[in-house]
Amino acid sequence: MTDRDKVEKHYASEDITARVLTALRNVDGPDVAITPDTLAPIDHFHGRGVIATAELAAMMQPKASDHLLDIACGIAGPARWIAAKYRCRVTGVDLTPEFCVAARELNAATGLTERVRILDGSALSLPMPEDSFDHAYSQAALMNISDKLGVFREAFRVLRPGGLLALSFAGAGSAGAPHYPLPWATTADISFLVTPVETRRDLLAAGFQIEFVRDTNTMVAEALAPVLKQLETEGLPPLGEHVVTGESAKEWRINWMRSCAEGRLSIIEALARKPR
Ligand SMILES: C[S@@+](CC[C@H](N)C(=O)[O-])C[C@H]1O[C@@H](n2cnc3c(N)ncnc32)[C@H](O)[C@@H]1O
Repeated sequence: MTDRDKVEKHYASEDITARVLTALRNVDGPDVAITPDTLAPIDHFHGRGVIATAELAAMMQPKASDHLLDIACGIAGPARWIAAKYRCRVTGVDLTPEFCVAARELNAATGLTERVRILDGSALSLPMPEDSFDHAYSQAALMNISDKLGVFREAFRVLRPGGLLALSFAGAGSAGAPHYPLPWATTADISFLVTPVETRRDLLAAGFQIEFVRDTNTMVAEALAPVLKQLETEGLPPLGEHVVTGESAKEWRINWMRSCAEGRLSIIEALARKPR
């Protein structure tokens, strides 16, 4: 099995949209409006949810006329949220066909089909021509891809000159290997963790100018400490990414937060620009 097959297998499951909408209506009532905000506790598929998406979007400050690319968009919660908040267009690309189906269905349910487009595809071979996007971002996905330079080269190709690439993903920590299973990989074979220094090197090699590359682990671990305590004592909240991934999410999230707190992971944020 290739790494790509293993990644798809890790994320794929059936009837995602039905599970998401049923969970939301069970918790918020049958008449709940289906919006990027009401869906946000479930469809931002990364550890810090909509807060992290808001921080990433703020790095790019998109204008309403902008067209953004979401590399490895998942079920497209971040793409819908950014399109709604900034009134811009977003195209998402993802490897997992079941996620692309759910993303399109949830775009329709939120009335965002016109402004959020979803394409099946790989970050290593983006299905779009060069100079197509004003900005691009990727959140909580690069851990699954060993060839990060290949992703950066593709992002560089499809960005317009002057366009920004904003990144947020887990990287290697200084205190040894993280605890598995983790949300993106049950074992280390599809978890490709690099350092901020290696990230900077690869962004430069792809042709980008670096605005910053930083490790936000300390801030993230501090913010997550009460969440970890709550998860350990009270279990999963009624709404969360476990609606999509299943009950294993509890162990995965605990391991992720413990690994952050122990310095076994870095949380890499980067902003880079394609030269004008
Ligand atoms: C943890 S999810 C994050 C999804 C989304 N970015 C978010 O924050 O909600 C990781 C996603 O990366 C996608 N992915 C992993 N490797 C990929 C690749 N080579 N090309 C495109 N998508 C990929 C997976 O299918 C999955 O949807």
